[in-house]
Amino acid sequence: MTIKAAILGFGTVGQGIYEILQTKRRQLHKLIGDKVEVTSILVHNVHKERFLPDNVIVTDRFDDVLNQKPDVIFEATVGIEPSYSYLKQAIDQHIHVVTANKVMFAACGHKLIQRAEQRIGVGYEATTAAGIPIIGTLTTLLQTNNITKVQGILNGTSNYILTAMQDQNKTFSEALQEAQTKGYAEADPTNDIEGHDAFYKLMILSQLLYEKQPDWSAVSLTGISNLNETDLISAEEKGEKIRHVATLELVDGELKGTVEPLFLPPSHGLFGIEGVDNAISVTGDLVGSVTLRGPGAGQLPTASAMIEDFVQIWQTTPAKQFI
Ligand SMILES: NC(=O)c1ccc[n+]([C@@H]2O[C@H](COP(=O)([O-])OP(=O)(O)OC[C@H]3O[C@@H](n4cnc5c(N)ncnc54)[C@H](OP(=O)(O)O)[C@@H]3O)[C@@H](O)[C@H]2O)c1
Repeated sequence: MTIKAAILGFGTVGQGIYEILQTKRRQLHKLIGDKVEVTSILVHNVHKERFLPDNVIVTDRFDDVLNQKPDVIFEATVGIEPSYSYLKQAIDQHIHVVTANKVMFAACGHKLIQRAEQRIGVGYEATTAAGIPIIGTLTTLLQTNNITKVQGILNGTSNYILTAMQDQNKTFSEALQEAQTKGYAEADPTNDIEGHDAFYKLMILSQLLYEKQPDWSAVSLTGISNLNETDLISAEEKGEKIRHVATLELVDGELKGTVEPLFLPPSHGLFGIEGVDNAISVTGDLVGSVTLRGPGAGQLPTASAMIEDFVQIWQTTPAKQFI
């Protein structure tokens, strides 16, 4: 059998998925017993030059994707809609879905999972710190632990800026400009530096761990743009690092979430996280504190998480004919 795959969105992440499906063709065949072929790609603007083979349909109509009867859809577009509606339709047609779209998944992921009823795979490892396998670790390897706290550096752009400010004495705007030049920060960096991006990831973790999220309006977000020289000097004098930290904690049965700059002592699990790296520490009642660190963004790390999700789904979810 040939597994038919569709990719929604052909930007940084979508192209990474396509590339891995080509370069890892043999390894994937060995792992899942079938060949994978990309049959359609959904984009916003079909007129962009894309250098794809003629047998891959490039379209801006989701119906064209469904008409190809894909077995799996990789979703790498932006925003809640139309992505949520597309994935709902896909699940209803027994198509496995794998997404990197954190904004959509923070808001609607639980509804997709419910809709899939464990018969259809819903992969979302890439939504939360991209290449760091935190979702897989929590769902498969820390199931018996009660997780009481999650704390993470969940945005590489803000961490890059903070590292440059502290280690190279750059001002905030110099560090931001450098991050933009290197392609780590968008032209409009608001989502990254004000904590919105980390917030979405924290909400996805909250839903996974506790099947609920704190009231979004009660989660306090403080960005890094107001840090000043006094803060940096004070951290240096105490031998501490300032990091933009997202925290989710269960306090007296209540979920509390924050994203804020924190002064971390050398003993803290997130102290040594530098540059664009991300890291997540989880505290479990049995295991204690475990920290995972790695690339929280980027083409191949993000696409890698999506391909691994797909392999896992294909190996463990019933084949379409048995659903
Ligand atoms: N980049 C990363 O490192 C990273 C890491 C983790 C998660 N993510 C998430 O992955 C998703 C994709 O990110 P990206 O960096 O690949 O974005 P991107 O480079 O901006 O690409 C977005 C793609 O989606 C397409 N698109 C946008 N709106 C669409 C619509 N309404 N219908 C059909 N196609 C549409 C665009 O089409 P056109 O090409 O025609 O414009 C483009 O191909 C985002 O949700 C992001 O949050 C990204």
